[in-house]
Amino acid sequence: MKDCNEIVDCSGRREFLVKSAMLAGGLVLTLSGAGSAFASRFEDVTVAINDKSPLNKVGGTATVDSSAGKIVILRTGDAAFVAVSAKCTHKGGPIKYDADAKQFFCPWHDSKYKTDGSNAGGPASQPLASYKATGSATSVTVKVGS
Ligand code: FES
Repeated sequence: MKDCNEIVDCSGRREFLVKSAMLAGGLVLTLSGAGSAFASRFEDVTVAINDKSPLNKVGGTATVDSSAGKIVILRTGDAAFVAVSAKCTHKGGPIKYDADAKQFFCPWHDSKYKTDGSNAGGPASQPLASYKATGSATSVTVKVGS
């Protein structure tokens, strides 16, 4: 067995430690690069609004597909929109909008969510993912990407 207090015999061990540190650094850089590639797989969604669109009036909703899953878009004003995940955080039920209560809900077990996605009642304990939505009378864009 080598005594690593002897400098001459421990150069191999020192070299091993230096190479290990460099390898670990490279792994961290690789993973951070993968993280940015992972984030870019999500793409923003733009939905056109016409006379027949449910988003043509305040309180109207549309469920759209996105790279992050289905999203419910709600028109809250002339040019104001909110967007949340269409998947209930309890057990994955479909999110709907109750215009009278002015909140989202899940018909499976009656979880309720405020329009910002936060919980308002029912068995779901986690909020819905929410997305920035900007638009006009003729279209809305949901920011899904980074
Ligand atoms: S799945 Fe939505 S409340 Fe249970």
